[in-house]
Amino acid sequence: MSQNIYDSIDFFESYSKYPRMENGLAGASEWPLLETMLPSNLVSKTVLDLGCGDGWFSRWALDQGAKAVCAMDVSKNMLSRARALSPPDRYSAITFRQVDIEMLEGQDGGLDPEAYDVAFSGLALHYLVNLEAALRQVFRSLRPGGLFVFSVEHPIFTAPQRPGFKKTGAAQDWPLSSYFAEGEREVDWLGAPVRKQHRTISSYLKTLRTVGFEVVVVDEWGVSDDDSRKHPDWPNDGGIPRFLLISAMKRVDAADSL
Ligand SMILES: C[S@@+](CC[C@H](N)C(=O)[O-])C[C@H]1O[C@@H](n2cnc3c(N)ncnc32)[C@H](O)[C@@H]1O
Repeated sequence: MSQNIYDSIDFFESYSKYPRMENGLAGASEWPLLETMLPSNLVSKTVLDLGCGDGWFSRWALDQGAKAVCAMDVSKNMLSRARALSPPDRYSAITFRQVDIEMLEGQDGGLDPEAYDVAFSGLALHYLVNLEAALRQVFRSLRPGGLFVFSVEHPIFTAPQRPGFKKTGAAQDWPLSSYFAEGEREVDWLGAPVRKQHRTISSYLKTLRTVGFEVVVVDEWGVSDDDSRKHPDWPNDGGIPRFLLISAMKRVDAADSL
């Protein structure tokens, strides 16, 4: 079971000042890459948004013509922000559900089988202790040919037990250690002890394949000089990869793994 830190009032207030909370997809730094990994046409598609936060992806999917979106998050704070930003006259086809996405199987028997064309998750899966259980549910809920696209904190970023940049003159280093020691990391972030799960890149790929997915695209995002020029609040941090992005498909001939 993951932590639900976004329901801590002080943490939520601080996180609400982050660009992706203030500006939605325009502030989600990895979005331009993620968008290229999604199907180019969402018209009439059914979409799942796991760890939806304030729901910016769900609204974007509906604006692209999706028929319906199921948006799930464990945090009440996030869901009430998401509902407030999604007026029913325009976004009534989004269903918001308060759900712990690693406990999906235990809730009403899990996600409906073969109910969705596209599943998406932005920066949520690195909080899950039982990633495989969540991925099994996502796999089961996708129609054959369906695509799952997600971003997580980059494993180089989540690896150290005591993470932190090291300044050497003007340069910044990110000392990498404990990369192969998968498991929980507790980091001090926005004044709170935040629990995340570190996994290696190969572990993400193996788990996807174990539940039946075919991995389609693997990409990485870090701050470029161009990003820093456009967004003065994103300083160039010396070429550290921040996010890992993956798309994976449920093949048309895939057997259900459940
Ligand atoms: C960094 S925010 C990202 C929100 C949004 N997807 C985005 O890309 O901006 C992570 C979100 O994942 C949610 N989350 C974390 N663990 C979760 C879990 N086990 N089940 C459902 N949501 C979870 C948090 O509540 C939070 O809203």
